[in-house]
Amino acid sequence: MNALRSPFLSGSVQPSKLILTPTTIMLKPTAKTTRTSKPPFPNSSPLVPVLNVRAVRIEEKPKTSTRREPTTTTTTLPRSANPPSPSNNIPSPPPSRNKSTATRRVPSPPQRRPVVPTLPTLILNAVDDVINNFIDPPSKAYVDPRHVLRDNYAPVLDELPPTECEVIEGSLPACLDGAYIRNGPNPQFLPRGPYHLFDGDGMLHSIKISKGKATLCSRYVKTYKYTKEQEVGGPLVPNVFSFNSLTSSATRGALSFARMLASQFNLANGFGLANTSLAFFADRLYALGESDMPYSVRVTPNGDIETLGRQDFDGKLMISMTAHPKVDLDTGEAFAFRYGPVPPFLTYFRFDPTGNKQPDVPIFSLMTPSMLHDFAISKKYAIFAEMQLGMSPFEMIFSGGSPVGTDPGKVPRIGVLPRYAKDETEMKWFNVPGFNPMHLTNAWDEEDAIVLVAPNVLCIEHALENLDLVHSMLEKVRIDLKTGTVRRTPISARNLDFAVINPAYTGKKNKYVYAAVGDPMPSISGVVKLDVSKADQRQDCTVACRMYGRRCYGGEPFFVAREPDNPEAEEDDGYVVSYVHDEVAGESKFLVMDAKSPELDIVAAVKLPRRVPYGFHGLFVRESDLSKLM
Ligand SMILES: [Fe+2]
Repeated sequence: MNALRSPFLSGSVQPSKLILTPTTIMLKPTAKTTRTSKPPFPNSSPLVPVLNVRAVRIEEKPKTSTRREPTTTTTTLPRSANPPSPSNNIPSPPPSRNKSTATRRVPSPPQRRPVVPTLPTLILNAVDDVINNFIDPPSKAYVDPRHVLRDNYAPVLDELPPTECEVIEGSLPACLDGAYIRNGPNPQFLPRGPYHLFDGDGMLHSIKISKGKATLCSRYVKTYKYTKEQEVGGPLVPNVFSFNSLTSSATRGALSFARMLASQFNLANGFGLANTSLAFFADRLYALGESDMPYSVRVTPNGDIETLGRQDFDGKLMISMTAHPKVDLDTGEAFAFRYGPVPPFLTYFRFDPTGNKQPDVPIFSLMTPSMLHDFAISKKYAIFAEMQLGMSPFEMIFSGGSPVGTDPGKVPRIGVLPRYAKDETEMKWFNVPGFNPMHLTNAWDEEDAIVLVAPNVLCIEHALENLDLVHSMLEKVRIDLKTGTVRRTPISARNLDFAVINPAYTGKKNKYVYAAVGDPMPSISGVVKLDVSKADQRQDCTVACRMYGRRCYGGEPFFVAREPDNPEAEEDDGYVVSYVHDEVAGESKFLVMDAKSPELDIVAAVKLPRRVPYGFHGLFVRESDLSKLM
């Protein structure tokens, strides 16, 4: 289903019908613009007048809101919770027109029941409407939901219980025994005001594979924010990346304060979206977003996804944690950090193999609040990249604008800290002008040096507001710890990011990188395999490539080793997997590609029973690890 042809986003792009009810305005798709016969909102009021319109204001679910039956708790870690059974749901016709899949049925979304708003909720929602319509409408494209949520960036309307998939090409390799799970934004309520791509509630899309068969499940991470907003039937927490003026910041801040006074939510319980990535360490699986603490999740034997709760690691983890912890599979340790707007602006920490969080290492030598989305580890060091992206909360409060912005006056630096440091006394910083990597792919130690591989964002000023102009060039960076010299070598001139490696090589010298091709940005039109050892010969390192085809776009690739327990296995002996969406057919697939073949041959393609929106990061968890989550 095409996003702007989806039931709630259409307006000037597709001829649509406007539905008017006493409380809301929303779009009803024409038969031509949807692939399912189900109404967009099962409980919506019957059609009143039908008008043809060319432009509309995006609205969302009716104010007489509905909510879904909660399936999990976010405050405890129940081990015996009974997963919802897909057999309890009434099957509905599949979205596909393909006759060969007519017997595969997509379960209906769970039953909803109306939420009766309280008087304070009605008043505060009315204030919110005034702000969205008159004070802070989505005036810029990068926060205009009609632009941001176009095509397959549009959210799916509800969760998908475990649903059998059809293998339509090749066969799933035996080593793919487990689940590939990918995180991404999927706003629970369609935005009435400004909305940035990073602002959506986290939804996990898991394809569980066993004995050559696949089951897809899509579930929200049941964060505190998600749960409280579900209770009241509407948004409570403002979109952090969408502030665009002093007035909007002031009014939205005042509204949030009023909502807290009305006990609608409590910031102490976190406001994170858990929409960015996943990590598995110490026999736990986490959904992550860097503005909050991790949420523990699990995949049940039938392929369902459950949120177990917000994890503070026995009270040792404060406030938040990066969405990109690094796991050393040799030692079982996990390494992480958090950053923030008040000193210390950066704090490093690690978890031992049993998941015990070790004491914080505050980094006061980071002198200004900076956005650090990712970092790297080697066997000896933790490596941080201070970019020209600063955090300016006070500027947001007093001048308006986003809390994160570029700082062209800052010289980017790489910080190197011994990975078992107890304080920052041995930390060294190296100036690296022009080096602004949002992600760090891998690092390893060489004699008196550290080698880092990372996609460098060449136009960092576009990183948040003009994603279509971003170009990231993969670089190999050698940091000489003795002389302080930093040597940078391009690996490819192509626009590459979301670069991954064989996870067993995290922190160790590796040869192969698998990266997503951003073209046209921010869409991902293919995947390349690079041999980074060729960079020293000053040549393009691409050794394999697969483009997905016309208007077919994928996501971050992930490498799954064919023999993960074989220490003699070659680094690239395995498969590259990713979700890929065909915007013409409106269908999504799960692709399995042979990592050793020069064209990344497709060894299996799985037709998904429902669209999987574009998202961020994912990982494959083996069945032997999934079983530890039970
Ligand atoms: Fe990321």
